[in-house]
Amino acid sequence: MARVEFPEGFRWGTATASYQIEGAWREDGKGESIWDRFAHTPGKVKGEQTGDVACDSYHRYTEDIALMREMNLNSYRFSIAWPRIQPDGRGAVNAKGVDYYRRLTEALLEAGIRPFPTLYHWDLPQALEDAGGWPERDTAARFADYAEIMTRALGDLVDHWMIFNEPSIFTVMGYLVGIHAPGRKSLDDLLRASHTVNLAQGQAFQAMKAVRSDFTVGTALNMSPCEPAGDSAEDAEAAERWHRMVNVWYLDPALRGRYPEAFIDGLPAERMGIQDGDLERIRAPLDFLGINLYTRTIVKHQEGDPFGLHAVPVGPMGGDDGPRTEFGWEVWPNALYDMIMRVTADYDRPIIEVTENGCSYGDGPGADGVIRDTRRIDFYRGFLEAVSRAIDDGADVRGYHAWTLLDNFEWSEGFEQRFGLVWLDRETQGRTLKESGRWYGQAAAENGFEV
Ligand code: FCB
Repeated sequence: MARVEFPEGFRWGTATASYQIEGAWREDGKGESIWDRFAHTPGKVKGEQTGDVACDSYHRYTEDIALMREMNLNSYRFSIAWPRIQPDGRGAVNAKGVDYYRRLTEALLEAGIRPFPTLYHWDLPQALEDAGGWPERDTAARFADYAEIMTRALGDLVDHWMIFNEPSIFTVMGYLVGIHAPGRKSLDDLLRASHTVNLAQGQAFQAMKAVRSDFTVGTALNMSPCEPAGDSAEDAEAAERWHRMVNVWYLDPALRGRYPEAFIDGLPAERMGIQDGDLERIRAPLDFLGINLYTRTIVKHQEGDPFGLHAVPVGPMGGDDGPRTEFGWEVWPNALYDMIMRVTADYDRPIIEVTENGCSYGDGPGADGVIRDTRRIDFYRGFLEAVSRAIDDGADVRGYHAWTLLDNFEWSEGFEQRFGLVWLDRETQGRTLKESGRWYGQAAAENGFEV
């Protein structure tokens, strides 16, 4: 047996998102979000399910924290619902909303857990969508105002922040593919949204550092190493273009002040709404890079794709060599190693936090009440071993956040996909630690595990 060990001070955590767990969708002055509207629209979410109640964490966050303590965790990545803070996305601050996040944060600190908030995990105030949403340039300024409000409100308690969660997912799914809120299907909307989000990232970064220059500010990007489907040079180039579009479209603007060369015909600058001076405004010298990763991506050359990249991913998520989760995503631990090493090489060894990684399996309580989700344990063992190998090979990875603490509202899939280390009984809101939660908790306590 060998031992996998992590460096001293390595953070062990879980990640969640406001709309997926909080519920209380119109309590204490909260405004409507695009996810409230989307989920309330028939036909958008499987089984017409909504996050109205979700895991009721708005009322049960102390139970959530007790579970994290039971697992010996020392970092909690959660997100702040913008419409709780500014119900219409602009103007006056809703004190009760701020108060909730102060209570949550204080309780985390008391439990010895680092509060690690994300400012935006997809729940845009509906009023801003009505004014044009992310394709509308003004949304960037609104977001920077909100970032300033929030960092002022929690700045005495929190020093590590993330600006966005998975900008390439929420823009593509929300504006081009239409299966996430707000459900639009337009390449022009996507192109404009992607630029506004980059502007918002730059402007929010500046606003946050103006509040406290010693804040540690990053962003959480969805990443997946792109492998060519075949041996041809065309496939190899297509895989590289896909990498630029999906993995670094929100990273190169921040760190290098330019868009990566993803499009065959050059940057569609006019369609994106790029103005003079914007390439300065999108800069954000991030203090760390958050990586959300679930599997790898196999890419082939193909003309007539929806983006105009002449590249498309092959098949469902991942390749064909590993087992699949219940979501159909290939389990391929080396994807995390490859991605961390690529970013380490390309961006001069940035500080990295794994901000999401996990799997959906529906294993429930046996007759004895025990939840034996051994496939999830295997998943975490494999991916954590990959992280440790990347650290041994020179990457600067400071923490790992399992997606997710408890089974929750999985966007357009509703509650069917269970990603939790904790089982959620949707009738009673009862929470039960799964065997994977016990395993993860022991690894956290020992800062390592046997393989
Ligand atoms: C990521 C999201 C997260 C969760 C997982 C499964 O793309 O950031 O909210 O839904 O996928």
